[in-house]
Amino acid sequence: MMAGMTNFFGILLQMCLFLLHVNLPASSALRIDESGYIVYCPCMGRFGNQAEQFLGSLSFAKSINRTFVIPPWVEYKPYVEGSLRVSYDTYFQVEPLKQFHRVITMEQFMEKLAPKIWPPSQRISFCYMSRASEGSNCNAKEGNPFGPFWDHFNVDFVGSEFHNPLSFDITSGETKLWKQRYPASKYPVLAFVGAPGPFPATESSLGVQRFIRWSDKIEAKAEKFIKSKIPERPFIGIHLRNGVDWRSACSHVKETPQMFASAQCTGYHNENGLLTEEVCYPSDSTVVKQVKNEVKRLNAKTVFVATDDRDLIKEMSKVMKKVKFVRAYPSDPHLDLAILSKADHYIGNCVSTFSAFAKRYRDTLGKTSSFWAFKYHSDKKNTEL
Ligand SMILES: *[C@@H]1O[C@H](CO)[C@@H](O)[C@H](O)[C@H]1NC(C)=O
Repeated sequence: MMAGMTNFFGILLQMCLFLLHVNLPASSALRIDESGYIVYCPCMGRFGNQAEQFLGSLSFAKSINRTFVIPPWVEYKPYVEGSLRVSYDTYFQVEPLKQFHRVITMEQFMEKLAPKIWPPSQRISFCYMSRASEGSNCNAKEGNPFGPFWDHFNVDFVGSEFHNPLSFDITSGETKLWKQRYPASKYPVLAFVGAPGPFPATESSLGVQRFIRWSDKIEAKAEKFIKSKIPERPFIGIHLRNGVDWRSACSHVKETPQMFASAQCTGYHNENGLLTEEVCYPSDSTVVKQVKNEVKRLNAKTVFVATDDRDLIKEMSKVMKKVKFVRAYPSDPHLDLAILSKADHYIGNCVSTFSAFAKRYRDTLGKTSSFWAFKYHSDKKNTEL
């Protein structure tokens, strides 16, 4: 009897699905959004920086209620001229973003919607103010990665629009002004020369990280690596940012209370502690000592190292003879980040936006993180404040 019922409902369900299928036109999934779209080139920096601005850009699209067109990531390869574009879903899932706001990938947008709502004769680029040395123009395609990005989608611009004094600060109450000045009926697509989100990310947009989830492919790759290379847990993940470019960047710490992602440890008002050069570029001995302390505290068996330059594995092995140190070869930044986001504890560079991505991802999973050489104001001081 039960089996018969189940079968009956199964057939009924299948019939419904069949009817739905034939009744829905294939394009229904891509209804045109009358509230308009936001398109942009993530033209500033590498993954860490692009991810910071992704948070704010998606928040901005939500605040002015336009569909967010998810751009591909812009990547640079050593010894390869120009830049590459890697679609968002190579590394991340698109579906979870939809829980936050309406989105469509740029590839789909250009193929399915642009011919209808953004014909070549209406492609205007938006920038805050003129970017031309002579005349008045956004110069949206000048230089790398700007030119190659739009060329990739066969986009040429017929004009420029300067949106100043309107900014992307969604806390400033400008949302209404954006809608008034650029109604979707007249401007269905706002195409920005750069990301319409602040750098670094502001506190108000950090919550977006919850909707940025690794793709199944990256998840599987990270799990496979952990299974084969890190069989013994707990394991600590560390990120070392110690290339020469970083050393020179860190020399500017003296001049500023905040730099790049530093708010992740100092707090947005330096309420947690102070940014120092050592925080930005910790000495090798600081790194070794700190890893040793954490290994001891957690009884860690393995340390996974992600680095842009030196891995310090030789130095660490000398003082932690029973601990296994591993790296992923060949170097793959997204695999590194995915493994770092799964570690039992993580030590990152407070100033690095690459470090910050792993920290934010871990926060969404309730996992602990710390930073090189960062000293929190004493509890006593905090209560006095
Ligand atoms: C936001 O956009 C959606 C989709 O176009 C629309 O249905 C909705 O009414 C808009 N909301 C506001 C407050 O304008």
